[in-house]
Amino acid sequence: MQPPILKPTPGAAHESAHGHVRGSAEYVDDRPREARELTVGLIWSPHAHARVVSIDVSRVQKWEGQVWIFDYKALAHNTWGSIFQDQNFLAVDEVHFVGDVVLVVAAENPIILQAALREIRVDYEVLPAILSIDEAVAQQSFIGAERRIERGDWQPGLETAPHRLQGTIQIDGADHFYLENQAAIAYPRDGGVMEIHSSTQHPTEVQHLVAEAVGLSHKDVVCIVKRLGGGFGGKETQAAPIAVYAALVAKACQRPARLVLDKDTDMMITGKRNPFQVHYDIGFTDEGEIIALDGHLYSDGGACADLSTAIMERALTHVDNAYFIPAARLRGQVCRTHIHPHTAFRGFGGPKGVALIEQAIEAIAHHLGMDSYDVRLKNVYQHPHRNTTPYGQHVEGNALPLLFETLAERCDYRARRQQIKEQADPKSPTLRGIALTAVKFGISFITRFLNQGNALVLLHRDGTFQVSTGAVEMGQGVQTKIGSLVAAEFGVDLSAVRVMPTQTDKNANTSATAASSGTDLNGSAALVACQPLKERLSKVFAALVELDPELWPSRTIGPGTRQDMVWDRPLTRPIVFEGGRVFAKDQPERSLPLLDVIREAWFNRVSLSEYGFFKTEGLDFNKVTGQGTSFLYYSQGVACSEVEVDRRTGEVKVLRTDILMDLGRPINYDLEVGQIRGAFIQGMGWVTTEQLVYDAKGSLLTHAPSTYKIPSVHDIPRDFRVDLLQSDEPRTMHRGKAVGEPPLLLSFSVWAAIMNAIQVTSLPIPASRERILRALYPERFARWEKAP
Ligand code: MTE
Ligand code: HPA
Ligand code: MOS
Repeated sequence: MQPPILKPTPGAAHESAHGHVRGSAEYVDDRPREARELTVGLIWSPHAHARVVSIDVSRVQKWEGQVWIFDYKALAHNTWGSIFQDQNFLAVDEVHFVGDVVLVVAAENPIILQAALREIRVDYEVLPAILSIDEAVAQQSFIGAERRIERGDWQPGLETAPHRLQGTIQIDGADHFYLENQAAIAYPRDGGVMEIHSSTQHPTEVQHLVAEAVGLSHKDVVCIVKRLGGGFGGKETQAAPIAVYAALVAKACQRPARLVLDKDTDMMITGKRNPFQVHYDIGFTDEGEIIALDGHLYSDGGACADLSTAIMERALTHVDNAYFIPAARLRGQVCRTHIHPHTAFRGFGGPKGVALIEQAIEAIAHHLGMDSYDVRLKNVYQHPHRNTTPYGQHVEGNALPLLFETLAERCDYRARRQQIKEQADPKSPTLRGIALTAVKFGISFITRFLNQGNALVLLHRDGTFQVSTGAVEMGQGVQTKIGSLVAAEFGVDLSAVRVMPTQTDKNANTSATAASSGTDLNGSAALVACQPLKERLSKVFAALVELDPELWPSRTIGPGTRQDMVWDRPLTRPIVFEGGRVFAKDQPERSLPLLDVIREAWFNRVSLSEYGFFKTEGLDFNKVTGQGTSFLYYSQGVACSEVEVDRRTGEVKVLRTDILMDLGRPINYDLEVGQIRGAFIQGMGWVTTEQLVYDAKGSLLTHAPSTYKIPSVHDIPRDFRVDLLQSDEPRTMHRGKAVGEPPLLLSFSVWAAIMNAIQVTSLPIPASRERILRALYPERFARWEKAP
């Protein structure tokens, strides 16, 4: 049998590909400076927890009329938060993390601004701070209630299981390291309108929060987003305060105001991926079949809730990953500390749940002397039994067994694992390891109401389209994909479709572009909008083909001699839009140019614009009971990575990675594969070299690329092969599956391969060089640490 692998088909170039390469793609801070524009800066707390004792701005008075300073009293409304309103835009008396903003400062130009920032004195009384999950648990400092997913007799299951293992994994955070830092410019426009250009994944939230904060109504604020230089979840909520600070200045001074963070500031003050501490207690058979699991997850939410409780929900719904767990209790608690509020990051909690089970599987394999791949195969979701998740959702369209077997064969997993084992040389300076892991990622926002999108499709008389949706382009190619969907619907070239900047006066009440659902929600809304448009054009076509062209509306409407053309019968035959022409499916020879149909429609007063709304059906997950259908479908994939670990330095080289994913029918093969490669490499950075180091007072020390090591070109797998399964997804309108986040979780193949190489069953994330050396030589480290 031929392996069901999709043949690569070249996709259209990303809409800003040329702009990215040439440097002409415009970002917020590339906008030309306006004549009266002010530059904005921030005074933020250097302490994790403190009382603001006094603020002295007397030394700034020398710049009277050139510098403006604002505190929380300048805001009409100071509290915000996407889930719980527990955060202040500007500190009131107390600061809760390093980076908590106390003052907004505006100046005529950046030089005066920097000087003024240095002259402002804030005195603090330092208060005790909670800086770790352990401290937070000890003090019962929590955000929200404990969340639970529970099914079956997990307790007797654990007690009677032939084997039982326990473990704890430390999972650190990671910085988003978007190349474009947080940025916003606010322009006070004619008639009291505030126009905000923001680097945000969530224009609607920026619009609403700016309006509330500065005392305007929603109708008075327009948020415009052309593109982001990366978001990765870091601009889902945390772009909003930046926009608010700029708008505050713009409204008070009635001048444009620009706030753009530099990298160090951005890294120090904005939140990251939540650190997690996960505990497992797992029971299994002699064959490695999981019987029961008790999982307990703690996350560091930082000082404010942000999205951390939703992130925890996604962690809990992803503990099962690709594996059937018959009985389980999964508990999750977000901790409140005095660290910057942590936030969404590609995978949104999913990776932390998945780390638990993948680590436990490595431990099971080691305990039983099995290949961990066999333990995975033993437990993988199967049809028609062993296919319900701990939260009660059936795993429909399960491609996991096929993915496992196809990839293992294609990359010669068994032989390579055997060879690595046989060739292991105790004298060699390097150690090799290999592992094959999987991902099953739920697609939909778990918070049901967020699963909605809307779109505006405008058809112009030259046959070109403008499409507007709530989707934000952050590099992932969502605009190109949505444009391709509309182009395909009307049988025109992608060059005939322009996807417009995301703008809240075109698309209102939108969700963040997040949860990998940008194309599913907004692309579907665009397809919904296309249908009535096509229907109207089909009727015009049906009338036109039966008329003498001399009688077409364009020829007769001028003199006004004839009534509007009317097609009042139902369409009896399917009308096809293809190759720039329109025809009845059974009469391709009687086609008309689409352009003629559009022109005649206009002369005949047929509307050429349409608005579409889409919501995901069939979701009934109950957050209180922890049961129900949480996701429309799952994006699934597998990866096999082979690594080499230098036992003298702890350095990891990824020698080869093979990835196989089921993404349904891709809209744009190249964009999907690009997302897979990018997500994998980003995940690889997180699980290997990206170590966030805080000092003992809760201040981030690694706030630049000199100390925070994201992957470079040299770290990309030496041999990197990505394939897609031939497949079709009946649950989406475009028949494809979401790709944005899921492949990040395939980087656990590197983490597991390192464990295989150094023969340990547990490693923290990231498995940094130091941590690898600690795992290899625990007695030496113990000796060094004892030394004075
Ligand atoms: N790809 C690029 N180049 N830049 C990004 O910021 N963000 C990721 C992913 N891929 C991101 C990216 C995250 S976190 C998500 S949720 C999705 O893109 C969001 O876009 P989508 O829903 O259109 O896939
Ligand atoms: N993913 C990303 N962002 C979100 C989600 C999610 O599942 N839920 C709420 N915001
Ligand atoms: Mo992505 S973490 O859902 O923005």
